[in-house]
Amino acid sequence: MSDDSSPSLEGRRLILGVTGSIAAYKSALLIRQMKRAGADVRVVMTDDAKRFITPLTLGTLSEADVLGDIFPESSDASGSWTQHVRLGLWADLFVIAPATAQTLANLAGGFSNSMLTATALSARCPILVCPAMDRDMYRHPATQRNLQQLRDYDYTVMPAAHGELASGLVGRGRMPEPEAILRRIADLLDGRPPAADALASPSVTDEEADPPADPSPASASSTPADLRGLRVLVTAGPTQEPIDPVRMLTNPSTGRMGYAIAEAARARGADVTLVSGPTHLDPPGGVTVVRIQRAQEMHEAVQSRRDDADVIIGAAAVADYAPRRASSSKTKKDEAELTLSLRRTPDVLKTVGANKRPGQVLVGFALETDDERENARRKLEAKNLDWIALNNPREDGAGFGTSTNRVTLLGRDGTVDELPLLSKRDVADALLDRIVDPDLAPVPSPS
Ligand code: C5P
Repeated sequence: MSDDSSPSLEGRRLILGVTGSIAAYKSALLIRQMKRAGADVRVVMTDDAKRFITPLTLGTLSEADVLGDIFPESSDASGSWTQHVRLGLWADLFVIAPATAQTLANLAGGFSNSMLTATALSARCPILVCPAMDRDMYRHPATQRNLQQLRDYDYTVMPAAHGELASGLVGRGRMPEPEAILRRIADLLDGRPPAADALASPSVTDEEADPPADPSPASASSTPADLRGLRVLVTAGPTQEPIDPVRMLTNPSTGRMGYAIAEAARARGADVTLVSGPTHLDPPGGVTVVRIQRAQEMHEAVQSRRDDADVIIGAAAVADYAPRRASSSKTKKDEAELTLSLRRTPDVLKTVGANKRPGQVLVGFALETDDERENARRKLEAKNLDWIALNNPREDGAGFGTSTNRVTLLGRDGTVDELPLLSKRDVADALLDRIVDPDLAPVPSPS
């Protein structure tokens, strides 16, 4: 029976899939809470899960036989090998908690190599996966790609929680607490979007700021509110440096990368200000937008706001030179040659870096075609950044004007993180992941 504080799951039929993670001990608590909430629970375990918790424990708590073997032990084929099909049809919801990297890979690949994965393939009900693993396994592009694949199959992914992990590392990888999983189950069964705390409501002050977008269940379910309370300032787009009223110096930046970062940071609960050069993009909902044209204006907009920001990400393609004087009338084309006198524009991010306050995180982008890493690292040092995202515009799918990007993240501490070709939104999330979890915890030495 459910009490007042926990959601009711009265009469709901749940399968709990348990896989081989240390977090499997929490499955016992989860089953107790499911039963208390009135659910009928069947447990499916992988062989590895049995190393962490016994079928006897989970069977006793769920008051039903635990399923594990896909093939019957005896020759009495009384239908037990088709259990996965019957179970998949019986359930209202299939929860896999904890879900290891191995199981996520099997599910993403469509393997039916265990009772658990075979049941997932047979299930017609919604499936909720709650990953649990070590920090670096969770961040690995293969795991992230598998999670994305599962979302594409319409699975709901509950992001791993941040905190202390069994390895001694601190980071994202913990299985969410049973209470949070139970609430998510109830929400899914009732067709509700995730609880209100999945998204924060930032203080939006600028007239241009749109109201926060309603989170769609699909996107918000996979979006942690882990930037809540952080103020993020992003620069985006090109700058335009007028030569005369009808001509300018500019570059082909579309602003997509910066806009994707602003959107992702907002979706993760941050209070976001976007300082944008001229683009054709619609600003993301809930973001304060400051529009500028020239590098000097971007400089002023950023420097006047920099002290209020916890995170500053420079994704703008700022013109390095501007005409010394813009002519107030259209330049005549009488002469065979025209010499423009240019002056350096202010380096927006470098100025921020020179005035960085403790705790502030600064991120830049470097577009390099030669000696990429050395040049990017030099920029990281020169601008006093914590991270620099390096991209090479010569690579397919990377750089200006594309919806995808292939970046290598270089950290101040020497980290090199080569991301695969991803959508700019996924690159944005990967970058924000590093900011939330900056790997400051010492790596324990193997014993
Ligand atoms: O020096 P470079 O232009 O390659 O550095 C790129 C990084 O510095 C980007 O993050 C860009 O937004 C930022 N930048 C800036 N102001 C400039 C030039 C670059 O903020 N004038």
